[in-house]
Amino acid sequence: MKRIVSFFGEHSEVFEELNERTRKYALSKDIEYMWHSQEDFNQEEVVKDLQNSEAGLIDIEPYGEDIFKQLGDRCKLLIRFGVGFDKVDLNAATKYGLCITRTTGANSMSVAEMALSMIVALRRQHVVNRATVNSGVWTKNIGNETYGKTIGIIGFGATGQRLAKLLTGFDCNILVYDPYPNKKLIEKYNAKLAEIDEIFAQCDAISIHVPYCPETHMLANEDRLRMMKSNAVIVCTARGNIVDEEALYKVLKEKKIGGAGLDVYSEEPLPASSPLTTLDNVILTPHVASQTYEALWATYKKAIDIMDDFYNGRELLKSDLLNPEYKENIK
Ligand SMILES: NC(=O)c1ccc[n+]([C@@H]2O[C@H](COP(=O)([O-])OP(=O)(O)OC[C@H]3O[C@@H](n4cnc5c(N)ncnc54)[C@H](O)[C@@H]3O)[C@@H](O)[C@H]2O)c1
Repeated sequence: MKRIVSFFGEHSEVFEELNERTRKYALSKDIEYMWHSQEDFNQEEVVKDLQNSEAGLIDIEPYGEDIFKQLGDRCKLLIRFGVGFDKVDLNAATKYGLCITRTTGANSMSVAEMALSMIVALRRQHVVNRATVNSGVWTKNIGNETYGKTIGIIGFGATGQRLAKLLTGFDCNILVYDPYPNKKLIEKYNAKLAEIDEIFAQCDAISIHVPYCPETHMLANEDRLRMMKSNAVIVCTARGNIVDEEALYKVLKEKKIGGAGLDVYSEEPLPASSPLTTLDNVILTPHVASQTYEALWATYKKAIDIMDDFYNGRELLKSDLLNPEYKENIK
């Protein structure tokens, strides 16, 4: 029986239950499932477990040559629990004939719901209204509707498309920026392609769903943030360093924009001393956009299906397989 070892999730009731459910599902595919919870990432233990498994389910820690060169012949497959793969050295994996995949789409609805809920909550002043109630002063902070407004979606992949779908009930005018656009899908959601600066200048809310890479580093920089309308909001559930946090702090502090929602940061955990935590026009969450029971289970299940396909010689989806060139070096 082939074995997969998971390094995702810390010990808690929900992860105990999900891991047991995954173990049973894996068994139905003749796969042995092992869970090594990684409260603290321990590279030596990770390597040891991977050496004794055919596959690994990995989180957001860095995986590079120093790990891959020690894996030996048994482990041929690493599956990213989620979508972003900015911490995995794909070239090094390819060099060692190691296949790297991700679980595209499994968590996209959860992330899209998070983005939409942040947009609506920011526009309706939830944070400042809650603080008002706590203070005992019964003032009313006036918000703005999202219905019928112009929404910018930056990155129109699995999550961007889900957000567009959720927005259909809001009758919004949707502008999309994506350098590799799927024009049919953009039409399907009545969206329009736009330049990145048009999105910053024209939208009432902007939501970012791009991978972190050199082209997206500081994509939401000070110049662009200052192009935004004074009551517009910006939300990033993608990765840190796509929004310039220092510039964002300045424009929020000066009330140049309406608000911001961040789930991801240049440094995680976000230090409690971050000036962003002092503002009332911001929503900050600890990288939990994908953390719903539904998305977690869909991701575990998809990971087992990917392993089953891989070891039974079935083609993996193009959107999941991150380094198709690995085949040239397979031992
Ligand atoms: N906060 C979380 O828990 C969480 C969960 C899932 C995903 N994410 C992040 O969100 C990102 C998007 O997720 P997804 O599921 O939609 O991924 P996806 O791969 O389905 O879509 C990414 C989209 O970005 C586009 N893109 C690539 N480079 C771009 C660029 N330079 N400018 C604009 N668009 C570009 C691609 O063409 C694609 O359409 C992931 O890369 C990941 O880093 C975060």
